[in-house]
Amino acid sequence: MVRSAASIDLFLLLLLPFLLAWPLVASVDGAHEKNSSAGSLFWSTAEDETDLLRSSQENSTESVADDHSDSDGGFSSLEGMLQWAIGHSDPAKLKETSEDIQRQSPSELKKRQMELKELMEKLKMPSDAQLMQIAIDDLNNSSLSLEDRQRALQELLILVEPIDNANDLNKLGGLAVVIQELAHPDTDVRRLAAWVLGKASQNNVVVQRQVLELGALAKLMEMVKSSSTEEATKALYAVSALIRSNSVGQKLFYAEAGDIMLQDILANRSSDIRLRRKAVFLVGDLTECQLENGDKAEVPFFSDQIFLKSVVDLMASDDLDLQEKALLAIKNLLQLRTAEPLVFKDFCGLDGALEKMRQQLQSLIADEDLKDYALDVESLRSEVELIFHRKLGKVLTSTPWLV
Ligand SMILES: *[C@@H]1O[C@H](CO)[C@@H](O)[C@H](O)[C@H]1NC(C)=O
Ligand SMILES: *[C@@H]1O[C@H](CO)[C@@H](O)[C@H](O)[C@H]1NC(C)=O
Ligand SMILES: *[C@@H]1O[C@H](CO)[C@@H](O)[C@H](O)[C@H]1NC(C)=O
Ligand SMILES: *[C@@H]1O[C@H](CO)[C@@H](O)[C@H](O)[C@H]1NC(C)=O
Ligand SMILES: *[C@@H]1O[C@H](CO)[C@@H](O)[C@H](O)[C@H]1NC(C)=O
Repeated sequence: MVRSAASIDLFLLLLLPFLLAWPLVASVDGAHEKNSSAGSLFWSTAEDETDLLRSSQENSTESVADDHSDSDGGFSSLEGMLQWAIGHSDPAKLKETSEDIQRQSPSELKKRQMELKELMEKLKMPSDAQLMQIAIDDLNNSSLSLEDRQRALQELLILVEPIDNANDLNKLGGLAVVIQELAHPDTDVRRLAAWVLGKASQNNVVVQRQVLELGALAKLMEMVKSSSTEEATKALYAVSALIRSNSVGQKLFYAEAGDIMLQDILANRSSDIRLRRKAVFLVGDLTECQLENGDKAEVPFFSDQIFLKSVVDLMASDDLDLQEKALLAIKNLLQLRTAEPLVFKDFCGLDGALEKMRQQLQSLIADEDLKDYALDVESLRSEVELIFHRKLGKVLTSTPWLV
């Protein structure tokens, strides 16, 4: 935002007295009285409510999801502008103004306040909800150019980051419109639409449920098979975000053969490295859920030999990140009730893979730049080794004829 020095001065001249005179003005303007700190302005009510919503939404969002009391005032932008304006102002003038304020009568202050209110109206920025509405309306317009469509999605990508904006998306009709874009002929539009859905549902059970109910999971899973790596990667990101810690989502995922999808990615040496990282990370996540719900039936797939071998084989990758994610997945897989340590040993060759990785990490630890990371991975590796040998020891002592 570019504003002239004159407009900064005008802004501060009007605003500063008001800030300093807050307690006085508050008693004049009883209707807006609020006994909070002097820095909080009377028209920031909506903002406070948004904050309340946010903090009560950190976990379950059920009760507040349909609350429509969010801010339309665009105050956050003005607050930012105030910070900026103070940073660009002349301290001498500020001091003078603040001395001046002591001499003003309540009615003068009241007048100032009205002037300020007027100025605020003029400067008012569109709220996030308004910006989202514009983007949604654009997307819903079939004559929109491809460029504008991509731009609208990019805007939504930024806008849905705060949780209360993400929760607003469906109320504004946005989810349905974005899901529609998953079928767009342009791969970049599809990629962006998947990304928006992933971002909006990340760590947000309400949006997860809404997107699942709108039936987008199957379409996203289909997109994971796209020949465009970019599209496939964002689709897998969205799938993960949708089903993470979400039992309904995971059921749907397995019903759509999500396990086979993961297996195909992991076992295929030519699949993109980012895709493989995401796939093995998801395996770690899904198995973690299995461990947390220890009483429920485990997914048979997680003890499938071919699948397990494809995860163990990832440990031989030269990508340290992929190796680490594979280790995390194996750590969970080993701890499943149905895990058979002898399969890990004989069919997957886990012993050899762990030893090979140990040697590789030793040489990385010698490298000053990689040392810390390599040490972390080594600590995880030895933990996996310990779990493995403990499990193996149990099997071997209870069934000694197998040795
Ligand atoms: C604000 O005012 C109300 C009564 O108007 C009082 O009960 C409350 O304790 C006050 N809160 C603070 C933080 O001063
Ligand atoms: C929020 O969720 C976390 C993890 O699900 C849980 O441990 C925590 O107790 C919850 N907090 C509240 C306030 O419900
Ligand atoms: C749809 O987009 C076209 C092209 O940008 C524009 O001319 C038209 O006014 C838009 N329609 C609506 C309803 O916004
Ligand atoms: C999209 O446009 C259709 C009419 O073309 C309308 O019925 C629908 O409500 C619009 N959806 C949104 C989210 O604006
Ligand atoms: C393996 O991945 C490559 C690249 O994505 C793909 O072209 C190929 O069809 C895949 N192979 C199998 C057997 O799925």
